[in-house]
Amino acid sequence: MRAAFFEGNRTFRVGDCAEVAPRAGQVQIKVEFCGICGTDLHLFHGAMAHRLTLPHVMGHEMSGTLAAVGESVANWRVGDRVTVRPLDPCGACPACRMGHSHICHNLKFIGIDTPGALQGMWTVPAHTLHRLPDSLSLREGAMVEPIAVACHDVRLSELQAGEFAVVIGGGPIGILIALVAQARGARVLQAEVNPFRLQLARDLGIDAVNPVDTDLPALVNQHTGGAGADVVFEVSGSAAGCEMMTRLPRTRGRIVVVAIYAEPQKVDLFRFFWRELKLAGARVYEAEDFDGAIRLAASGKLPLDRLITDVLPLSRLEEAMHRMERGGDCMKILVSCTD
Ligand SMILES: NC(=O)c1ccc[n+]([C@@H]2O[C@H](COP(=O)([O-])OP(=O)(O)OC[C@H]3O[C@@H](n4cnc5c(N)ncnc54)[C@H](O)[C@@H]3O)[C@@H](O)[C@H]2O)c1
Ligand SMILES: [Zn+2]
Ligand SMILES: [Zn+2]
Repeated sequence: MRAAFFEGNRTFRVGDCAEVAPRAGQVQIKVEFCGICGTDLHLFHGAMAHRLTLPHVMGHEMSGTLAAVGESVANWRVGDRVTVRPLDPCGACPACRMGHSHICHNLKFIGIDTPGALQGMWTVPAHTLHRLPDSLSLREGAMVEPIAVACHDVRLSELQAGEFAVVIGGGPIGILIALVAQARGARVLQAEVNPFRLQLARDLGIDAVNPVDTDLPALVNQHTGGAGADVVFEVSGSAAGCEMMTRLPRTRGRIVVVAIYAEPQKVDLFRFFWRELKLAGARVYEAEDFDGAIRLAASGKLPLDRLITDVLPLSRLEEAMHRMERGGDCMKILVSCTD
Protein backbone atom coordinates (compact mmCIF):
# COMPACT_ATOMS: atom_id res chain seq x y z
CA MET A 1 0.00 0.00 0.00
CA ARG A 2 1.01 3.61 -0.61
CA ALA A 3 1.07 6.59 1.73
CA ALA A 4 1.87 10.30 1.36
CA PHE A 5 4.64 11.05 3.86
CA PHE A 6 5.04 14.67 4.95
CA GLU A 7 8.78 15.19 5.39
CA GLY A 8 8.66 18.80 6.62
CA ASN A 9 9.83 21.77 4.56
CA ARG A 10 6.68 21.73 2.36
CA THR A 11 7.45 18.33 0.89
CA PHE A 12 5.56 15.06 0.51
CA ARG A 13 7.03 11.76 -0.62
CA VAL A 14 4.64 9.08 -1.85
CA GLY A 15 5.99 5.64 -1.05
CA ASP A 16 5.25 2.18 0.21
CA CYS A 17 4.06 1.90 3.77
CA ALA A 18 3.76 -1.10 6.05
CA GLU A 19 0.20 -2.08 6.97
CA VAL A 20 -0.61 -1.90 10.68
CA ALA A 21 -2.67 -4.93 11.77
CA PRO A 22 -5.56 -3.87 14.04
CA ARG A 23 -5.07 -4.67 17.72
CA ALA A 24 -7.95 -5.30 20.14
CA GLY A 25 -10.50 -2.48 19.85
CA GLN A 26 -9.12 -1.31 16.51
CA VAL A 27 -10.13 -1.65 12.87
CA GLN A 28 -8.22 -1.37 9.61
CA ILE A 29 -9.87 0.66 6.84
CA LYS A 30 -9.22 0.58 3.11
CA VAL A 31 -9.27 4.34 2.53
CA GLU A 32 -11.13 5.47 -0.58
CA PHE A 33 -11.10 9.30 -0.41
CA CYS A 34 -9.52 11.81 1.94
CA GLY A 35 -10.29 15.54 1.86
CA ILE A 36 -7.57 18.14 2.45
CA CYS A 37 -8.46 20.84 4.94
CA GLY A 38 -7.00 24.12 6.14
CA THR A 39 -5.47 22.32 9.13
CA ASP A 40 -3.47 20.08 6.78
CA LEU A 41 -2.32 23.19 4.93
CA HIS A 42 -1.21 24.70 8.28
CA LEU A 43 0.79 21.51 9.01
CA PHE A 44 2.31 21.74 5.51
CA HIS A 45 3.43 25.29 6.39
CA GLY A 46 5.17 24.08 9.55
CA ALA A 47 2.47 24.84 12.16
CA MET A 48 2.08 22.46 15.14
CA ALA A 49 5.44 20.91 14.20
CA HIS A 50 5.99 19.85 17.84
CA ARG A 51 2.95 17.52 17.53
CA LEU A 52 4.27 15.66 14.45
CA THR A 53 6.75 12.80 14.23
CA LEU A 54 8.32 13.05 10.76
CA PRO A 55 7.71 11.58 8.31
CA HIS A 56 4.03 12.14 9.12
CA VAL A 57 0.90 10.92 7.33
CA MET A 58 -1.85 13.60 7.49
CA GLY A 59 -5.56 13.42 6.68
CA HIS A 60 -8.75 13.16 8.72
CA GLU A 61 -11.70 13.79 6.34
CA MET A 62 -12.17 10.37 4.83
CA SER A 63 -14.34 7.50 3.66
CA GLY A 64 -13.58 3.84 3.10
CA THR A 65 -14.51 0.22 3.78
CA LEU A 66 -13.42 -2.00 6.67
CA ALA A 67 -10.61 -4.37 5.65
CA ALA A 68 -9.95 -6.02 9.04
CA VAL A 69 -11.51 -5.97 12.49
CA GLY A 70 -9.48 -6.44 15.68
CA GLU A 71 -10.48 -8.50 18.72
CA SER A 72 -13.33 -7.34 20.95
CA VAL A 73 -14.81 -5.06 18.29
CA ALA A 74 -18.58 -5.57 18.30
CA ASN A 75 -21.03 -4.50 15.57
CA TRP A 76 -18.51 -3.99 12.76
CA ARG A 77 -17.66 -6.34 9.88
CA VAL A 78 -15.22 -6.43 6.99
CA GLY A 79 -16.78 -4.56 4.05
CA ASP A 80 -18.75 -2.02 6.14
CA ARG A 81 -18.69 1.47 4.59
CA VAL A 82 -17.45 4.01 7.14
CA THR A 83 -16.13 7.42 7.99
CA VAL A 84 -14.08 8.30 11.08
CA ARG A 85 -14.66 10.93 13.79
CA PRO A 86 -10.94 11.56 14.30
CA LEU A 87 -10.92 12.22 18.04
CA ASP A 88 -9.26 10.09 20.70
CA PRO A 89 -10.07 11.54 24.15
CA CYS A 90 -8.51 10.36 27.43
CA GLY A 91 -11.81 9.65 29.19
CA ALA A 92 -10.51 10.80 32.58
CA CYS A 93 -9.88 14.58 32.52
CA PRO A 94 -12.38 17.18 33.84
CA ALA A 95 -13.72 17.89 30.30
CA CYS A 96 -14.26 14.17 29.62
CA ARG A 97 -15.90 13.70 33.03
CA MET A 98 -18.26 16.61 32.25
CA GLY A 99 -19.34 14.87 29.01
CA HIS A 100 -17.31 17.12 26.72
CA SER A 101 -14.81 14.53 25.55
CA HIS A 102 -14.63 16.19 22.10
CA ILE A 103 -12.61 18.95 23.79
CA CYS A 104 -10.74 16.65 26.18
CA HIS A 105 -7.78 18.36 27.90
CA ASN A 106 -5.54 15.59 26.54
CA LEU A 107 -7.30 15.15 23.20
CA LYS A 108 -5.40 13.25 20.52
CA PHE A 109 -6.53 14.47 17.11
CA ILE A 110 -6.10 11.50 14.79
CA GLY A 111 -4.22 12.65 11.69
CA ILE A 112 -2.16 15.19 13.66
CA ASP A 113 -1.10 13.50 16.90
CA THR A 114 -1.27 10.04 15.29
CA PRO A 115 -1.05 8.93 11.62
CA GLY A 116 -3.85 10.07 9.31
CA ALA A 117 -5.83 8.79 6.34
CA LEU A 118 -3.71 9.86 3.35
CA GLN A 119 -2.70 6.24 2.80
CA GLY A 120 -4.19 3.09 1.32
CA MET A 121 -4.83 1.32 4.65
CA TRP A 122 -5.50 3.09 7.94
CA THR A 123 -5.77 1.57 11.42
CA VAL A 124 -7.87 3.47 14.00
CA PRO A 125 -9.83 2.81 17.22
CA ALA A 126 -13.25 1.29 16.48
CA HIS A 127 -14.97 3.88 18.71
CA THR A 128 -14.25 6.53 16.03
CA LEU A 129 -16.37 4.81 13.34
CA HIS A 130 -19.62 6.07 11.85
CA ARG A 131 -21.53 3.96 9.33
CA LEU A 132 -22.21 5.42 5.88
CA PRO A 133 -25.62 4.58 4.41
CA ASP A 134 -25.67 2.90 0.97
CA SER A 135 -27.40 5.98 -0.45
CA LEU A 136 -24.25 8.03 0.19
CA SER A 137 -21.34 7.58 -2.23
CA LEU A 138 -17.84 7.27 -0.77
CA ARG A 139 -16.98 10.61 -2.42
CA GLU A 140 -19.82 12.25 -0.49
CA GLY A 141 -18.84 10.25 2.60
CA ALA A 142 -15.47 12.04 2.70
CA MET A 143 -17.42 15.31 3.21
CA VAL A 144 -19.08 14.14 6.45
CA GLU A 145 -16.31 15.49 8.73
CA PRO A 146 -16.50 19.13 7.54
CA ILE A 147 -20.32 18.91 7.45
CA ALA A 148 -20.18 17.74 11.10
CA VAL A 149 -18.11 20.86 11.94
CA ALA A 150 -20.89 22.99 10.41
CA CYS A 151 -23.63 21.01 12.23
CA HIS A 152 -21.81 21.55 15.55
CA ASP A 153 -21.40 25.29 14.94
CA VAL A 154 -25.04 25.79 13.94
CA ARG A 155 -26.25 23.68 16.90
CA LEU A 156 -24.17 25.68 19.39
CA SER A 157 -25.46 28.95 17.88
CA GLU A 158 -29.05 27.89 18.76
CA LEU A 159 -30.10 29.30 15.38
CA GLN A 160 -33.86 28.97 14.86
CA ALA A 161 -35.91 28.69 11.65
CA GLY A 162 -36.72 32.18 10.37
CA GLU A 163 -33.73 33.79 12.10
CA PHE A 164 -31.15 35.80 10.15
CA ALA A 165 -27.52 34.63 10.16
CA VAL A 166 -24.36 36.16 8.69
CA VAL A 167 -21.45 33.86 7.86
CA ILE A 168 -18.13 35.72 7.52
CA GLY A 169 -15.88 33.56 5.32
CA GLY A 170 -17.03 31.21 2.56
CA GLY A 171 -14.36 28.51 2.49
CA PRO A 172 -15.43 24.86 2.84
CA ILE A 173 -16.49 25.33 6.48
CA GLY A 174 -18.20 28.71 5.98
CA ILE A 175 -20.19 27.58 2.96
CA LEU A 176 -21.27 24.41 4.78
CA ILE A 177 -22.41 26.51 7.78
CA ALA A 178 -24.48 28.63 5.36
CA LEU A 179 -26.00 25.52 3.76
CA VAL A 180 -26.72 23.80 7.10
CA ALA A 181 -28.28 27.03 8.44
CA GLN A 182 -30.47 27.32 5.33
CA ALA A 183 -31.47 23.67 5.66
CA ARG A 184 -32.61 24.53 9.21
CA GLY A 185 -34.86 27.26 7.80
CA ALA A 186 -32.69 30.28 8.63
CA ARG A 187 -32.11 33.23 6.30
CA VAL A 188 -28.40 33.54 5.49
CA LEU A 189 -26.02 36.20 4.19
CA GLN A 190 -22.48 35.06 3.38
CA ALA A 191 -19.44 37.35 3.15
CA GLU A 192 -16.50 36.09 1.08
CA VAL A 193 -13.61 37.89 -0.63
CA ASN A 194 -12.42 35.16 -3.05
CA PRO A 195 -14.29 35.70 -6.37
CA PHE A 196 -14.43 31.98 -7.27
CA ARG A 197 -15.88 31.05 -3.87
CA LEU A 198 -18.25 34.03 -3.90
CA GLN A 199 -19.64 32.92 -7.27
CA LEU A 200 -19.91 29.28 -6.17
CA ALA A 201 -21.92 30.33 -3.10
CA ARG A 202 -24.25 32.36 -5.34
CA ASP A 203 -24.59 29.45 -7.78
CA LEU A 204 -25.65 27.28 -4.84
CA GLY A 205 -28.46 29.69 -3.97
CA ILE A 206 -26.74 31.50 -1.08
CA ASP A 207 -27.08 35.29 -0.84
CA ALA A 208 -23.35 36.12 -0.88
CA VAL A 209 -21.46 39.43 -1.05
CA ASN A 210 -17.87 40.65 -1.08
CA PRO A 211 -17.42 42.65 2.16
CA VAL A 212 -14.70 44.75 0.49
CA ASP A 213 -17.17 46.49 -1.82
CA THR A 214 -20.32 46.15 0.33
CA ASP A 215 -21.41 48.06 3.44
CA LEU A 216 -22.15 44.87 5.39
CA PRO A 217 -23.71 46.49 8.52
CA ALA A 218 -26.03 48.56 6.29
CA LEU A 219 -27.01 45.49 4.25
CA VAL A 220 -27.73 43.46 7.41
CA ASN A 221 -29.88 46.32 8.74
CA GLN A 222 -31.76 46.40 5.42
CA HIS A 223 -32.53 42.68 5.71
CA THR A 224 -33.58 42.85 9.36
CA GLY A 225 -35.59 46.08 9.59
CA GLY A 226 -32.67 47.79 11.31
CA ALA A 227 -32.43 45.16 14.07
CA GLY A 228 -29.21 43.35 13.12
CA ALA A 229 -28.39 39.66 12.69
CA ASP A 230 -29.58 37.02 15.16
CA VAL A 231 -26.33 35.08 14.73
CA VAL A 232 -22.92 35.90 13.25
CA PHE A 233 -20.42 33.11 12.49
CA GLU A 234 -16.75 34.19 12.17
CA VAL A 235 -15.23 31.60 9.84
CA SER A 236 -12.72 33.71 7.90
CA GLY A 237 -9.87 33.61 10.41
CA SER A 238 -9.07 37.21 9.40
CA ALA A 239 -8.51 40.41 11.40
CA ALA A 240 -11.13 42.09 9.18
CA GLY A 241 -13.63 39.36 10.04
CA CYS A 242 -13.02 39.83 13.79
CA GLU A 243 -13.44 43.57 13.38
CA MET A 244 -16.70 43.10 11.47
CA MET A 245 -18.31 40.40 13.62
CA THR A 246 -19.29 42.70 16.51
CA ARG A 247 -20.86 45.30 14.18
CA LEU A 248 -23.55 42.98 12.81
CA PRO A 249 -25.57 41.33 15.64
CA ARG A 250 -28.92 42.54 17.00
CA THR A 251 -29.53 43.27 20.67
CA ARG A 252 -28.67 40.07 22.57
CA GLY A 253 -27.46 38.54 19.28
CA ARG A 254 -24.95 35.71 19.28
CA ILE A 255 -21.47 35.47 17.76
CA VAL A 256 -19.93 32.05 17.17
CA VAL A 257 -16.18 31.96 16.61
CA VAL A 258 -15.30 28.94 14.48
CA ALA A 259 -12.04 30.11 12.90
CA ILE A 260 -8.58 29.47 14.34
CA TYR A 261 -6.19 32.42 14.56
CA ALA A 262 -2.41 32.33 14.42
CA GLU A 263 -2.30 35.53 16.53
CA PRO A 264 -4.59 37.02 19.23
CA GLN A 265 -7.14 39.31 17.53
CA LYS A 266 -8.50 42.75 18.34
CA VAL A 267 -12.22 42.61 19.20
CA ASP A 268 -14.50 45.58 20.01
CA LEU A 269 -15.72 44.55 23.48
CA PHE A 270 -17.77 47.72 23.81
CA ARG A 271 -20.37 46.17 21.51
CA PHE A 272 -20.88 43.29 23.98
CA PHE A 273 -21.85 45.85 26.63
CA TRP A 274 -23.85 48.05 24.26
CA ARG A 275 -26.05 45.33 22.75
CA GLU A 276 -25.68 42.66 25.44
CA LEU A 277 -24.10 40.31 22.90
CA LYS A 278 -23.14 36.69 23.57
CA LEU A 279 -19.92 35.10 22.32
CA ALA A 280 -19.46 31.34 21.92
CA GLY A 281 -16.50 29.30 20.75
CA ALA A 282 -17.06 26.12 18.75
CA ARG A 283 -14.50 23.37 18.35
CA VAL A 284 -14.79 20.22 16.21
CA TYR A 285 -17.88 18.05 16.79
CA GLU A 286 -19.63 15.50 18.97
CA ALA A 287 -21.03 12.10 17.92
CA GLU A 288 -24.51 13.60 17.40
CA ASP A 289 -23.06 16.14 14.94
CA PHE A 290 -21.58 13.29 12.87
CA ASP A 291 -24.92 11.47 12.94
CA GLY A 292 -26.70 14.68 11.91
CA ALA A 293 -24.14 15.33 9.15
CA ILE A 294 -24.59 11.81 7.74
CA ARG A 295 -28.40 12.20 7.77
CA LEU A 296 -28.19 15.60 6.08
CA ALA A 297 -25.70 14.38 3.45
CA ALA A 298 -27.85 11.30 2.73
CA SER A 299 -30.98 13.47 2.39
CA GLY A 300 -29.50 14.90 -0.80
CA LYS A 301 -30.18 18.46 0.42
CA LEU A 302 -26.51 19.49 0.23
CA PRO A 303 -24.88 20.12 -3.20
CA LEU A 304 -21.81 18.07 -2.26
CA ASP A 305 -20.85 17.40 -5.90
CA ARG A 306 -20.46 21.13 -6.45
CA LEU A 307 -18.39 21.63 -3.28
CA ILE A 308 -15.91 18.91 -4.35
CA THR A 309 -14.06 20.85 -7.03
CA ASP A 310 -11.19 18.37 -7.54
CA VAL A 311 -10.36 14.70 -7.01
CA LEU A 312 -6.60 14.00 -7.31
CA PRO A 313 -4.34 10.96 -6.82
CA LEU A 314 -2.00 10.75 -3.78
CA SER A 315 0.93 11.62 -6.04
CA ARG A 316 -0.55 15.11 -6.63
CA LEU A 317 -1.03 16.02 -2.94
CA GLU A 318 1.81 18.55 -2.92
CA GLU A 319 0.34 20.27 -5.98
CA ALA A 320 -3.06 20.39 -4.23
CA MET A 321 -1.48 22.13 -1.22
CA HIS A 322 0.05 24.77 -3.49
CA ARG A 323 -3.32 25.38 -5.14
CA MET A 324 -4.99 25.82 -1.76
CA GLU A 325 -2.34 28.23 -0.52
CA ARG A 326 -2.82 30.40 -3.61
CA GLY A 327 -6.48 30.65 -2.48
CA GLY A 328 -7.55 30.10 -6.06
CA ASP A 329 -10.35 28.38 -7.85
CA CYS A 330 -11.00 25.46 -5.53
CA MET A 331 -13.34 24.59 -2.69
CA LYS A 332 -12.87 21.03 -1.34
CA ILE A 333 -10.07 18.93 -2.87
CA LEU A 334 -10.36 15.17 -2.34
CA VAL A 335 -7.46 12.77 -2.69
CA SER A 336 -8.14 9.30 -4.07
CA CYS A 337 -6.16 6.95 -1.82
CA THR A 338 -6.60 3.74 -3.80
CA ASP A 339 -3.84 2.95 -6.27
N1 LIG B 1 -13.68 25.18 15.14
C1 LIG B 1 -13.18 24.10 14.55
O1 LIG B 1 -13.14 23.02 15.11
C2 LIG B 1 -12.67 24.22 13.17
C3 LIG B 1 -12.73 23.13 12.29
C4 LIG B 1 -12.29 23.30 10.98
C5 LIG B 1 -11.77 24.52 10.57
N2 LIG B 1 -11.68 25.54 11.47
C6 LIG B 1 -11.19 26.87 11.09
O2 LIG B 1 -12.28 27.55 10.47
C7 LIG B 1 -11.78 28.45 9.50
C8 LIG B 1 -12.41 28.16 8.16
O3 LIG B 1 -12.03 26.89 7.65
P1 LIG B 1 -11.96 26.66 6.06
O4 LIG B 1 -11.45 25.29 5.85
O5 LIG B 1 -13.25 27.07 5.44
O6 LIG B 1 -10.78 27.72 5.75
P2 LIG B 1 -10.47 28.61 4.46
O7 LIG B 1 -9.20 29.32 4.77
O8 LIG B 1 -10.56 27.78 3.23
O9 LIG B 1 -11.68 29.67 4.42
C9 LIG B 1 -11.62 30.95 4.93
C10 LIG B 1 -12.31 31.85 3.89
O10 LIG B 1 -12.43 33.16 4.42
C11 LIG B 1 -12.26 34.07 3.35
N3 LIG B 1 -11.92 35.38 3.89
C12 LIG B 1 -10.69 35.87 4.27
N4 LIG B 1 -10.83 37.12 4.74
C13 LIG B 1 -12.14 37.43 4.70
C14 LIG B 1 -12.91 38.56 5.08
N5 LIG B 1 -12.33 39.64 5.60
N6 LIG B 1 -14.25 38.52 4.88
C15 LIG B 1 -14.83 37.44 4.34
N7 LIG B 1 -14.17 36.32 3.98
C16 LIG B 1 -12.84 36.33 4.15
C17 LIG B 1 -11.17 33.42 2.49
O11 LIG B 1 -11.20 33.91 1.17
C18 LIG B 1 -11.52 31.95 2.58
O12 LIG B 1 -12.35 31.52 1.51
C19 LIG B 1 -10.26 28.29 9.52
O13 LIG B 1 -9.72 29.27 10.40
C20 LIG B 1 -10.07 26.91 10.10
O14 LIG B 1 -8.80 26.78 10.73
C21 LIG B 1 -12.13 25.42 12.74
ZN1 LIG C 1 -10.41 19.17 8.77
ZN1 LIG D 1 -10.08 13.85 28.58
